[in-house]
Amino acid sequence: MKIVCIGAGYVGGPTMAMIAYKCPDITVVVVDINAARIAAWNSDELPIYEPGLDDVVKEARDRNLFFSTDTHKHVAEGDIIFVSVNTPTKTRGVGAGKAADLTYWEGAARMIASVSTSSKIVVEKSTVPVKTAEAIEKVLRRNCADPNVHFEILSNPEFLAEGTAIEDLERPDRVLIGGKETESGQRAIEVLKSVYAHWIPEERILCANLWSAELSKLTANAMLAQRISSINSISALCESTGADVQQVARCIGTDSRIGPKFLNASVGFGGSCFQKDILNLVYICETVGLKQVADYWHSVVLINDYQKQRFVERMIEAMFNTISGKKIAVLGFAFKKDTGDTRETPAIDVCKGLMSDNAKINIYDPKVTEAQIHNDLSLDKFMWDHPSASGTKSPRQNSVSCFKDAYSACADAHAIAVLTEWDEFKTLDYEKIYAKMTKPAFVFDGRNILDHVKLREIGFVVYALGKPLDPFLQRAYN
Ligand code: UDX
Ligand code: UDX
Ligand code: ADP
Repeated sequence: MKIVCIGAGYVGGPTMAMIAYKCPDITVVVVDINAARIAAWNSDELPIYEPGLDDVVKEARDRNLFFSTDTHKHVAEGDIIFVSVNTPTKTRGVGAGKAADLTYWEGAARMIASVSTSSKIVVEKSTVPVKTAEAIEKVLRRNCADPNVHFEILSNPEFLAEGTAIEDLERPDRVLIGGKETESGQRAIEVLKSVYAHWIPEERILCANLWSAELSKLTANAMLAQRISSINSISALCESTGADVQQVARCIGTDSRIGPKFLNASVGFGGSCFQKDILNLVYICETVGLKQVADYWHSVVLINDYQKQRFVERMIEAMFNTISGKKIAVLGFAFKKDTGDTRETPAIDVCKGLMSDNAKINIYDPKVTEAQIHNDLSLDKFMWDHPSASGTKSPRQNSVSCFKDAYSACADAHAIAVLTEWDEFKTLDYEKIYAKMTKPAFVFDGRNILDHVKLREIGFVVYALGKPLDPFLQRAYN
């Protein structure tokens, strides 16, 4: 059997590496039109940072795992074609700001159809709007010259989270396979099931119809994001009442109906999926006339925007209502720890907010490059997933500097803002940092990972999300 994956990104790369690692009897080829990305997958410097990924790739690469730019050849030879291309949010036209742009998906489908001389199972891996399979099937069928070639579409949404991708792929809560309720649809489900059954217990492989599988992916992400927006909304109330959001989260999380996970209040959720998938859901609801449902889910995104804005306002108010010309050390730029990914990271909006009040920003992140940070801060909303887009550098960006370690980023700063929960930020020598900062020295902990009592003993004025306020801050915020 030969499996081919179109798209060597955060989803396609690790997922195919795991399939190849676990299924030595199957040849797995990942293809991409981006030659630099393929070259990186074939090198010692993989294009994405993910704990454990290197070992899995090293074990399987050149054994039964291959990365190539020769899309046509491999797709023509494949039995199962995974499609894992980007599906950006549309920035213009109908549905701009919400709907998914399926240009890349359609391009991939047309290519599959044009090169196919044998029947194939085509698997939707990237998150797509509900009913995409239907549209794609039409594209495939109408564009293939050979009437004997049959395409069977499956939806097999990915639930891996970045930073834990290898663990999630190796021991997933479940694998979901959606297919048509026809005989050939069910047969295709069985074929894909047999791949995952190499390492995943059968009871964890769930089967559903196509639309249920597609909708489940959007709903899972919307529900996860909703938990974060729910606890983030409560963090604001905690600050006004003297309650502690971490205590609240612990108290409610022990109710097994609620559960303990995903209740960490934060400066906002980020990542390539949550906002995009919710906006997709909102758009689908609007197009079928369900305005109330659309508004309900949209509020999850609005609370997230509010949380980022609130954080910036807290910083400005605390620092005597002006941050103009003040140096602010930003610790962490990635959207979460253990990844170098910055897509939709809350740090972008927070930094832009600080920049528009003329602050000078010193950024340090263990895994994000300086070029990436500058690019992110110069792109307009939703442009990150449109590969042709390049940022226009605004004059304000001259106020951004990047550093190779936390200590130099914090030197002379008026304040520190922790925007990503990297473990290394917990063990920094804050006495040493305090000694070099401008006084009063502020810490704004947007992830609640630092020891706030200790920081206050050192002399810092500490703002922690959803926590009782320092008397100093209480005065500033009233
Ligand atoms: C609730 C809380 O569960 C309980 O912890 C608290 O102390 C009091 O309020 P109660 O209102 O008695 O308890 O019932 P609950 O089982 O929570 O159901 C509340 C409503 O939600 C019911 O109308 C129930 O039918 C509905 N419900 C519950 C659903 O529609 N779907 C569900 O999955 C669960
Ligand atoms: C998410 C889903 O978890 C995954 O199943 C899906 O396939 C892709 O989207 P990912 O975006 O990689 O994965 O990361 P996730 O761990 O879900 O975190 C998303 C954002 O929420 C991050 O910015 C994270 O910092 C934030 N978050 C998460 C919180 O603010 N609080 C929490 O309690 C959990
Ligand atoms: P994800 O996070 O969903 O994996 P990425 O943006 O990281 O998304 O990866 C998508 C990849 O798909 C990109 O590397 C892009 O170059 C690739 N791609 C898009 N369209 C095509 C296509 N028609 N053929 C091959 N690769 C494609």
